[in-house]
Amino acid sequence: MTVPFKVKVPLVDLKAQYVQVRAEIHEALDRVMENTAFIQGPAVKGFEEAFAAHHGAKHCVATSCGTSALHVALAAMGIRSGDEVLVPVNTFIATAEAVSHCGARPVFVDMSEEDYCIDPAKIEAAITPRTRAIIPVHLYGQPAEMDEVLAIAAKHGLMVLEDCAQAHDAEYKGRKVGTHGRAAAFSFYPGKNLGAYGEGGAILTNDDEVARIARMLRDHGAAKRYHHEMVGYNYRMHGFQGAVLGVKLKYLSAWTDARRRAAAKYRAALADLPVRLPKEKPHVRHVNHLFVVRVRDRAAAMQALLEKGVDCGIHYPIPLHLSGAYASLGYRRGDFPVAAAAADEILSLPMYPELTDDLIDYVVEALRPALRF
Ligand SMILES: Cc1ncc(COP(=O)(O)O)c(C=O)c1O
Repeated sequence: MTVPFKVKVPLVDLKAQYVQVRAEIHEALDRVMENTAFIQGPAVKGFEEAFAAHHGAKHCVATSCGTSALHVALAAMGIRSGDEVLVPVNTFIATAEAVSHCGARPVFVDMSEEDYCIDPAKIEAAITPRTRAIIPVHLYGQPAEMDEVLAIAAKHGLMVLEDCAQAHDAEYKGRKVGTHGRAAAFSFYPGKNLGAYGEGGAILTNDDEVARIARMLRDHGAAKRYHHEMVGYNYRMHGFQGAVLGVKLKYLSAWTDARRRAAAKYRAALADLPVRLPKEKPHVRHVNHLFVVRVRDRAAAMQALLEKGVDCGIHYPIPLHLSGAYASLGYRRGDFPVAAAAADEILSLPMYPELTDDLIDYVVEALRPALRF
């Protein structure tokens, strides 16, 4: 679909956030340049400490992006060739790629019709003697059903790695995500709830050994320069990203509150319209990374929005079992019916902390004529 229309409401507005913190960001970036600490260095270390403290986690290991955080976390947890790791079929491909990068096999599980996260009721059927771990993804900013995931993991002796790429500051039963499993991985891709000005990621863990190995793996397998104890990766965070994230972390709670306000406004404005929404569970703090609705005629809805200058997206149009990348796993079209049906109807509306009530009304009015009961 072409976009000949001028964008009035973007999907994400990074500039609106930048102007609020411009002076602090420039100061922090200047310090990195003055120190010439471009790779890791004090800004990254400072951010690691602040991010760990923010979560009450023992260790934070900053990485080059969320994908490398997932990869290094799994490797540090001991996932290797021949292992199987359970992954929701409706996630960004990075969750599964990290498993593949370890030489292991991602085994997909359908999503729950309720919250669009991994369906705990379908996990046990996917477990085999080779299964070593489960990666619940807190999709769109809503925590997966962790009590059930953790109970199944404990029953079968599996590890849990939380994929928190879309859920900074979300809470499950009063405790922040990132602290429920053996480890957790975050992405700081610019459009994320806590976004760097480039790529960035981090691992949180309370496990000393996972943290020790992850720290080495992200830096060519060395704890001390040129003392390589294992074959690792160049997955280090840049000083500039640590500096930006250190500034922005202080505003995360306020920005999350603003996202939650915008989501509540959307829900009220959409209440009488024929759209379905993932259910917001009462025992979680949803951080609304994305605001996803489900519509019968998505093409019509997208066209109506674009004509009014409203940007939108699809997260994600192809469930992973149908992607070319995982064709070799041998799944069939009908294997994950809940995710497959959702993939045809989901639509992400603009969502960012600075989104005003007036703009939300504008988006909903633009959508209205394209909706069918
Ligand atoms: C659910 C999920 N997992 C992993 C990632 C990978 O993060 P990154 O893009 O920082 O590598 C992303 C974001 O892109 C994501 O949305």
